Amino acid sequence: MDILVFGKDGQLGRAFQGQLNNSSFQAGGNVLFVGRGECDLSDLSQVNDILINIKPQLIINAAAYTAVDKAETESELAFAINASAPEVMAKYAAEHDATLLHFSTDYVFDGSKKGAYSELDKTNPLSIYGKSKEAGEQAIFKAFASNSNSNGKYAVLRTSWVYGDGRNFIKTILRLAKERSALQVIQDQYGVPTSASWLAELGIHLVFDEGQLRPFASGIYHAVPQGETNWHGLACLAVQAALDAGQKLPTSLATIIPIPASEYPLPAPRPMNSRLSTQKLQLELKRLGLVSKLPHWDTSWNEQVITYVNQLTQN
Ligand SMILES: NC(=O)c1ccc[n+]([C@@H]2O[C@H](COP(=O)([O-])OP(=O)(O)OC[C@H]3O[C@@H](n4cnc5c(N)ncnc54)[C@H](OP(=O)(O)O)[C@@H]3O)[C@@H](O)[C@H]2O)c1
Repeated sequence: MDILVFGKDGQLGRAFQGQLNNSSFQAGGNVLFVGRGECDLSDLSQVNDILINIKPQLIINAAAYTAVDKAETESELAFAINASAPEVMAKYAAEHDATLLHFSTDYVFDGSKKGAYSELDKTNPLSIYGKSKEAGEQAIFKAFASNSNSNGKYAVLRTSWVYGDGRNFIKTILRLAKERSALQVIQDQYGVPTSASWLAELGIHLVFDEGQLRPFASGIYHAVPQGETNWHGLACLAVQAALDAGQKLPTSLATIIPIPASEYPLPAPRPMNSRLSTQKLQLELKRLGLVSKLPHWDTSWNEQVITYVNQLTQN
């Protein structure tokens, strides 16, 4: 089976490279990773051409326009990359009996719900980035809706607060904690930090069974680890983990000051609550007999962050 992965240089794309290049993974075909240099997703003819040339049975789209604040002034580009390019991929997959694994975001919600969001909750993105990702989800749904047998054909994994090999909040906090004696971090926006490698592994297991595509139920799934926090909670855990790993930092937990989001205005509005319920995914993993095969599935965000910070401090 031939697999085409878009977004090879992003956090999730690098995580997929780690997982799919692992010798224990048997694709039974070629795996091609492409980045902006090989295929610019803002040019739809390039997206179409590469699909026609490679003829993948599985498309993994780990690429996205992720500059949340910049998107407010680059709406057209954000929509081209986050909505139109996935639409081309989905139409190709639906027409050629291929499978599409795509990723979306908690920012499709407005954050006004009290508890965790389910896949059935109404989306209402506050930002251009969120709107463009919502449009991508809808385009994928529409492309497959006309396909009478879309089972096992597409999965959109909605995730949140991703960190991996690339720029992310945890790395920024650890850098600032080295430079400053005190930090101010938002305490009233809630969500779930998610490890890119955990997410890639989950995505692979959802669509594959021993090198073959499996008939999973197509649709949107919320994919985050257990638990929840806010940015201040995440910053404190990351700094604590770095201190525990022996790092000498001028910042201490006592000098990470919680502030409301209103004191840290950004160009793009963010949801105050973006907790995602993973009940639907858990049921599907159970139905597929995957729960015992995914030892990391049940880990909490805390455990994942500590592991990640330990890896960072060792490098
Ligand atoms: N990061 C988060 O906190 C977060 C939260 C929720 C959901 N998500 C979703 O999770 C997925 C993965 O995110 P991530 O954190 O891995 O993002 P990332 O690190 O920003 O990576 C995105 C990748 O997309 C590529 N890309 C952007 N524009 C492109 C274009 N015109 N042509 C080709 N490639 C292009 C980038 O290429 P360059 O390297 O060349 O720039 C980059 O490698 C995305 O769908 C994102 O929306 C992320």
